[in-house]
Amino acid sequence: MLKEKDILKAAKKKQKTIVFPEVSFSDRTFEAVKILQKKGIVKVLLVGDASAMQLRDKAFEKFEILSPVTFADREKLVKTLYEKRKEKGMTLAQADELEKDPYYFATLLVECGYADGMVAGAECTTATTIRPALQIIKGKSKKEPVSSFFLMLGQNEFLNGKPLILADCGLNEDPDVDLLVTIASQSVNSAKMFGIEPKVAFLSYSTKGSAKGENVDKMRMAAEKFAKKAKDVPSDGELQFDAAMIPTVASHKAPDSVLKGDANLLIFPNIEAGNICYKAMQYTGGLTAVGPILQGLKKPVNDLSRGCSVTDIVLVAAVTALQAETKTSN
Ligand SMILES: CC(C)(COP(=O)(O)OP(=O)(O)OC[C@H]1O[C@@H](n2cnc3c(N)ncnc32)[C@H](O)[C@@H]1OP(=O)(O)O)[C@@H](O)C(=O)NCCC(=O)NCCS
Repeated sequence: MLKEKDILKAAKKKQKTIVFPEVSFSDRTFEAVKILQKKGIVKVLLVGDASAMQLRDKAFEKFEILSPVTFADREKLVKTLYEKRKEKGMTLAQADELEKDPYYFATLLVECGYADGMVAGAECTTATTIRPALQIIKGKSKKEPVSSFFLMLGQNEFLNGKPLILADCGLNEDPDVDLLVTIASQSVNSAKMFGIEPKVAFLSYSTKGSAKGENVDKMRMAAEKFAKKAKDVPSDGELQFDAAMIPTVASHKAPDSVLKGDANLLIFPNIEAGNICYKAMQYTGGLTAVGPILQGLKKPVNDLSRGCSVTDIVLVAAVTALQAETKTSN
């Protein structure tokens, strides 16, 4: 059974440097970085005006704080941003201005190797956190889009401690068949990073043709394509949630399914279904939601839900450190 403390322990072994761009205006992030530093889970790098922050709170004196305005290698970051975006019409003057944005600055610190990963999003939208990463760090290959997943942890009477991976609940709004296959493949790698043996279900409102519709066809085709691509991974679809997750229901609705109602990696037809489901599990199912964690990026950058707790920030930072271990995020 995967527990939060296992993730923190695994991260601690890696000693990765994680940068937090919004700590100067996020009390929750400040509480989280104090825990991360005190317990030695990651090496913490903060963004902001060091003297103003230290004047406000002496506890900031214990941290390394970099300012986008006074950073010694500022020119290098500006040039990197300009080179990455000039084809999109960015001028050097615009790059010089944008480097001062804490989210762009922190992303550039990761891109240029001053940090191993970035965590933000307690105080801003998903787009603000991840757009710089998509523009600067980019996906592992041009062909492979970036996606996201949630790791769901905890105890309830149905799961009995079984961890779940849910994707894509935070980035790709309406994936087509090929993107669903990519999301599933990336999620399989992410599951393995946590030591989870993935059992993949492509979810729908239909089980094996019990209902008809465009999205039913989409999920069935994605399941078939994925099964051909990943023969060693147990997978099935299209399945309803209960046929994928509850053995007694599976025995009636999908008796021939290889999953037997024991799926642990759930692929959703679109961001709405995924996002609603993870929040329902979190708030009424009593589970901890870790994420959204991005997968497919060259280097790890992760977003937080604006409703996140201090513990959520600590956990996402630890997962970011785990992703950095392999030099590229899953
Ligand atoms: C990801 C997102 C922020 C991009 O928005 P955007 O900046 O307005 O959109 P753009 O299409 O201009 O994308 C910006 C860059 O990101 C890239 N990009 C967008 N989605 C991508 C993906 N899934 N994988 C890889 N790159 C992606 C684009 O190719 C583009 O790169 P370029 O400028 O070098 O060509 C947008 O898709 C989004 O908001 N998604 C939903 C996220 C959300 O609200 N989640 C809430 C639940 S947590």
